[in-house]
Amino acid sequence: MTVNPDSVAAIIRDVARDEILPRYNTLEAHEVRSKSHPGDLVTAADEAAEAALATRLRALLPGSVVVGEEGTAADPRLLDRLKEDAPVWVLDPVDGTRNFAHGVPRFAVMVALVRGGDTVCGWILDPIADVLYVAEQGAGSWREGKRIRVSPARRPEALVGATGYRHAKLFKPHGIRTRQSGSAAHDYMQASDGRVDFAVFRRRLNPWDHAAGALIHDEAGGFGRTVDGASYRPGDREGDHLILAPDEDTWSRIRDILLPHVRGDKG
Ligand code: IPD
Ligand code: CA
Ligand code: CA
Repeated sequence: MTVNPDSVAAIIRDVARDEILPRYNTLEAHEVRSKSHPGDLVTAADEAAEAALATRLRALLPGSVVVGEEGTAADPRLLDRLKEDAPVWVLDPVDGTRNFAHGVPRFAVMVALVRGGDTVCGWILDPIADVLYVAEQGAGSWREGKRIRVSPARRPEALVGATGYRHAKLFKPHGIRTRQSGSAAHDYMQASDGRVDFAVFRRRLNPWDHAAGALIHDEAGGFGRTVDGASYRPGDREGDHLILAPDEDTWSRIRDILLPHVRGDKG
């Protein structure tokens, strides 16, 4: 059994409208708490949105299971479900929770459908702009119904990348500019429609942060590999740093800059 990508998109939009947007800039202190460390936040919007997505997506695809960020925080064994045969919905109900909680409009909802360890469909919704990105394996990447492509090849000094704050300083000496969005979803959207040329993600590749975006970037013609040259798979949580680039040459250039710095980076 398969799903209609538009039905999933409609569910994501409903949940953003009902559970996320009403809480934007209206959260009360007791609705925000930290998880593994003080900067790792979860809000009432993350929890309510994940619960609503899980209920509706399970009903849409009988026999499917859910691996969500907040469910996994409560029960890490849920990650083992990615190894099972049943179709798996991988959910990041609010990506960019720090931004969301501080009134910064860069956050998104990410959903991926994984079968047999492969991502077959991915969706990212930017609820503020009301813009949805979707990709189906083998059928290209689309932004609001229009086909998207990664950026064209550029000279190194013209490259612009999306990185975390820690990586920004590595690229500056090479004349390469970087931007920090505070949301992996926004980095994937920008790298997939060519607003940035490349993106770098640190190790500890949680499936909810990467499954949907990696497919969207790949189907937009991008070249995404870990620093070791491996393709990303949503079950590979311990995979090393992931680099998205528009082509293999650019990927190698970014990898050469990054590689000397990643081996001691245990974060
Ligand atoms: C985080 C954001 C952030 C990235 C972190 C993610 P969350 O997701 O995408 O940009 O640097 O690795 O965990 O916690 O806001 O869903
Ligand atoms: Ca996330
Ligand atoms: Ca999240």
